[in-house]
Amino acid sequence: MKDEVPTTEERVANLKGMGSSRKRVEDVRFTQGRGNYVDDIKLDGMLFGDFVRSPYAHARVTTIHTEEAMKVPGVLAVITAADLEPLGLHWMPTLAGDKQMVLADGKVLFQGQEVAFVVATDRYAAADGVEAVEVDYEELPVVVDPFKAMEPDAPVLREDLEGQTEGAHGPRRHHNHIFTWEQGDKDATEAVMAEADVVAEEMIYYHRTHPSPLETCGSVASMDKVTGKLTLWGTFQAPHAIRTVVSLISGIAEHNIRVISPDIGGGFGNKVGAYAGYVCSVVASIVTGKPVKWVEDRMENLMSTAFARDYWMQGKIAATKEGKITGLWCHTTADHGGFDACADPTKFPAGFMNICTGSYDIPTAYLAVDGVYTNKAPGGVAYRCSFRVTEAAYFIERMIEVLAIKLNMDAAELRRINFIKKEQFPYNSALGWEYDSGDYHTAWDKALNAVGYDDLRAEQAQQLEDFKAGKTRRLMGIGLTHFTEIVGAGPVKNCDILGLGMFDSCEIRIHPTGSAIARLGTISQGQGHATTFAQIIASEIGIPADDITLEEGDTDTAPYGLGTYGSRSTPVAGAATAMAGRKIKAKAQMIAAYLLEVHDDDVEFDVDRFVVKGAPERFKTMKEIAFAAYNQAIPGVEPGLEAVSYYDPPNMTYPFGAYICVLDIDVDTGEAEVRKFYALDDCGTRINPMIIEGQVHGGLTEALAIAMGQEIAYDEMGNNKSATLMDFFIPTSWETPNYETDHTTTPSPHHPIGAKGVGESPNVGGVPCFSNAVHDAFRPFGLTQSHMPHDHWRIWKTANGLGLHS
Ligand code: CDP
Repeated sequence: MKDEVPTTEERVANLKGMGSSRKRVEDVRFTQGRGNYVDDIKLDGMLFGDFVRSPYAHARVTTIHTEEAMKVPGVLAVITAADLEPLGLHWMPTLAGDKQMVLADGKVLFQGQEVAFVVATDRYAAADGVEAVEVDYEELPVVVDPFKAMEPDAPVLREDLEGQTEGAHGPRRHHNHIFTWEQGDKDATEAVMAEADVVAEEMIYYHRTHPSPLETCGSVASMDKVTGKLTLWGTFQAPHAIRTVVSLISGIAEHNIRVISPDIGGGFGNKVGAYAGYVCSVVASIVTGKPVKWVEDRMENLMSTAFARDYWMQGKIAATKEGKITGLWCHTTADHGGFDACADPTKFPAGFMNICTGSYDIPTAYLAVDGVYTNKAPGGVAYRCSFRVTEAAYFIERMIEVLAIKLNMDAAELRRINFIKKEQFPYNSALGWEYDSGDYHTAWDKALNAVGYDDLRAEQAQQLEDFKAGKTRRLMGIGLTHFTEIVGAGPVKNCDILGLGMFDSCEIRIHPTGSAIARLGTISQGQGHATTFAQIIASEIGIPADDITLEEGDTDTAPYGLGTYGSRSTPVAGAATAMAGRKIKAKAQMIAAYLLEVHDDDVEFDVDRFVVKGAPERFKTMKEIAFAAYNQAIPGVEPGLEAVSYYDPPNMTYPFGAYICVLDIDVDTGEAEVRKFYALDDCGTRINPMIIEGQVHGGLTEALAIAMGQEIAYDEMGNNKSATLMDFFIPTSWETPNYETDHTTTPSPHHPIGAKGVGESPNVGGVPCFSNAVHDAFRPFGLTQSHMPHDHWRIWKTANGLGLHS
């Protein structure tokens, strides 16, 4: 017969706490069509808004004819910049310290820019109204190339800034120049380059792409004229920050604004910024007194909201003959489009690009970034990465390969001899970061052994022989990457957005019967927060995760937080969750000691209870303690059991990973087939291994997309050539390879539970890994650099350029 007293193992298993592969609780709703997304919100009398958008990338707007649109049945209003101007809402501040037109004010700067907002009784009438608006444009010369934009006679794009020599991030030296951001020691780096045995130099371009989440952006604004309260539902990755921004822009007192992010169908950075649709839906609701919904379609999403990357990175890397790297130099030209609407912490105009020394102990480095205006859509968001860390990782991982070619060395060995050593942590990088922890050599050796690296190289050499002998038309590429991420923005002293420090928060309330509700300042977009944050609480305070409800995204109920992006949820809000749990545990200890009639120090925590030290049969479970908190409170101590924590992390966390990809390339068709992809991630303490694996699979698939086909491309007239999913590559299960996942565990020394972020690592490490595999296949034929995306056509052209089609 089974013993009725559960064992410690059974009690631990019952909690489903940290380390357990608890199934995602969200999926019961999501897989049964019970999600509640912005477009599911239906309110009485709700109106619909739709945008008239510019077909031109650069043009003067002379007249907007709205009369015919107003005749369309159902159309109630057509709002233009002239209507917004008296309210001071025709321009809005961007997250990067620039300002951006809400609706075209005299000119347009990119194709798809918002020109007028049509409000109607239904979506179709609004779309008919958009068709009926006539706009007179005078075309202006278009610049889509950031280098041409900086030529002396380039057209002036931002006439509103003409004559301004100071921008939000220092001096502007040209009418299309936004900022120069410098990090590191320029003179010392140049001296190292001058004296080095070997210097490898290359231009590394990380093309423009787009996060393209399954759900596009949208909002529903509802102004209650009786109470004066504005409720705004939207696809917001940072609902509290949006509430503050709406208050500052509109003048509505912040307590009269309630921002709600309902379920979000993927964000990947796309839903961090503020868009014209949000402002216009609010204005339209205030004007009409009715709720107003705006939801963009796929083309609008791809054309106008939040692009990513578009960095031209000129690099030099210096080394000794033996391959010890002595210096790194990088000059980046960053194409920010028509407005600087990048989503980065204020002091980092190029995000965390200064992590571009990567996993390597590089003593001297210098980075300069020039931000430039062009006639492209604004944005510059962190598409599944911590600000610009993806660009940084791509840059260094390509430069390592370029250096390996120059030194005629194996790229795995070159990495190994330059890794920061375990005993060097905490490690201060030449560009100013303090890496918290890492064990790169162990991870690297594990990865190389797991794939049988030496055998793969032997097989590759044989295949090359066969190719040269005409026995095959396929080449084999082995892509290597060792990346270091920087996630968890961030210490308030370093990181703020619009002056709001980047801490985060968690509030936990324990109910009398021992179940709980927790609310956080973050917002899940598919990452499974309701599952994993409950696991942290379960382990911290001994209440089963299944008995904990988790809520995010409602500013009227959740504590203030800076939201979810840049893999910051676990490093920051996850830490707040543990700290709030510890406050509850401290009070629970007092209550337990009181009930057991012993001193506080004479009880200790044991999975789900406090036991008297040395007398384990005397205990109070958390369930009993919770009830007591509401009924037998300790004299002089407040009843109840709840706590809130606002956590300002002392440092960021530095997850890392070792990825290896084996590709077969058909030289005649340009097709690349992923034969193997091995991904080892180290995200410190692992909360839910199954969710981590899901995050890695998702991130790698987005990396595959970016490296192998996805691109927002423009022609020289500024026409967006990739604004449909026919042209913009989203991999299906057909294109997606199998992934082999693995891990090491190097806890963060400063995080309360030792966890680092993981959501973005696979994208950061995956892109260079796929790209390096393509390059590696052609290395014997003299290829050092070809630009992504490596679609079939470009691979075919590379093969052709190397004379492999003769
Ligand atoms: O900020 P975001 O949620 O996008 O990224 P994250 O903090 O890296 O977390 C992504 C998901 O992975 C969340 O559900 C985390 O709780 C989970 N995770 C985990 O289980 N263990 C870690 N060490 C890091 C994240």
